[in-house]
Amino acid sequence: MSFQFIAADLAARTARHLYRRQHLIEQSEAGRVKIDGHWYYNFSSNDYLGLAQSQALRQAACDAAQHTHSGSTASPLVTGYTVSHQRLEDYLCQRLGRDRVLLFNSGFSANQAVIQTLMRHGGQILADKLSHASMLDGALASQARLKRFAHNDVAHLSRLIQKDAEDTLIMTEGVFSMDGDKAPVQDIVELASEANALLLLDDAHGFGVLGQSGAGTIEAGKLSQLALPLLMGTFGKAVATSGAFVALSTQLYEYLINFARHYIYSTSMSPLMAEVTLASLKLVHKDQWRRDKLTENIQLFREQAISEGLPVSFSDTAIQPVAIGRSDKTLKVAEYARSQGFWVGAMRAPTVPEGSARLRVTLSSIHEQDEIRQLIRALAKGLKDVC
Ligand SMILES: Cc1ncc(COP(=O)(O)O)c(C=O)c1O
Repeated sequence: MSFQFIAADLAARTARHLYRRQHLIEQSEAGRVKIDGHWYYNFSSNDYLGLAQSQALRQAACDAAQHTHSGSTASPLVTGYTVSHQRLEDYLCQRLGRDRVLLFNSGFSANQAVIQTLMRHGGQILADKLSHASMLDGALASQARLKRFAHNDVAHLSRLIQKDAEDTLIMTEGVFSMDGDKAPVQDIVELASEANALLLLDDAHGFGVLGQSGAGTIEAGKLSQLALPLLMGTFGKAVATSGAFVALSTQLYEYLINFARHYIYSTSMSPLMAEVTLASLKLVHKDQWRRDKLTENIQLFREQAISEGLPVSFSDTAIQPVAIGRSDKTLKVAEYARSQGFWVGAMRAPTVPEGSARLRVTLSSIHEQDEIRQLIRALAKGLKDVC
């Protein structure tokens, strides 16, 4: 019988406490979710600025629905590129100081498109070892050779780079999705420039949050288009809509439009989503108080977590991993937190390296300080009981 591996693989996942399933969100409001009839404080979402349920964004969606369409009905190169898309692109170009912006339906497809297209004639890709699956899969599906440098290890990257040897793409993340730490972007920019390599920065978790006005890692590090030729940002996290963009030079833009299969052969982002995303980006820019409150929440979480002896990392961002190690224990602590009314993601292999299972606590400006204190007490008790 064929496809026997399906049952075997699922059984192996179950045995190793790595089986996945969705949890149906029955309702959500103000930083809480209802699952299986119970309400939980949500410490798992990437809604870092609390925009997902904001009245302002709801209103923007209602307003946009009056004058635009829910579906684009075609690829951007056919009839799927509308003024709603153009307005969003123009806003981003001006906000980020880039020549052009290209929109995608997801960050996953944006990364795949950039990497596979620019490396379609071979060359080498040097990727941080902890790069997101969308980047690594893009690299594996390209014609280039993939080498991975130790996480945030500039010296290792420097040893791997051979100046002008062949077309080289370096890739890393502004804020790492599972660890919350930041890449040493300035050093990597310098190395890339010395080696004539292209640099791709995935700022999925920095965009909206970092920098004086939330423009992300490039604003925090003052990185021009020349320094950072390829910037990918997603709308599904701090911006609280969905889709993604790549900001780049006119020449790279033209190349992707002509050769990026994910762009050419896919229906473009919904124009309604483009309009709501633009409204959200304006809120991200204007509502500095959201970033200030997030910063306060991060500080409080870290102070309290350290004083309770939780195994937190050095992250100073909204992503705060609590290291546990074993998958079964991580699941048990997450279950305990749920029993106390907190929803926290249990991250296990292959999402994180084997043996480094963790709770991925994500903070938002929507959290109240008392909720954070209670969460930490619940995690401390759960860890004490389980480990
Ligand atoms: C670092 C990183 N890059 C890319 C993505 C993919 O973005 P999207 O969810 O828009 O597909 C994610 C999200 O899961 C991510 O964390």
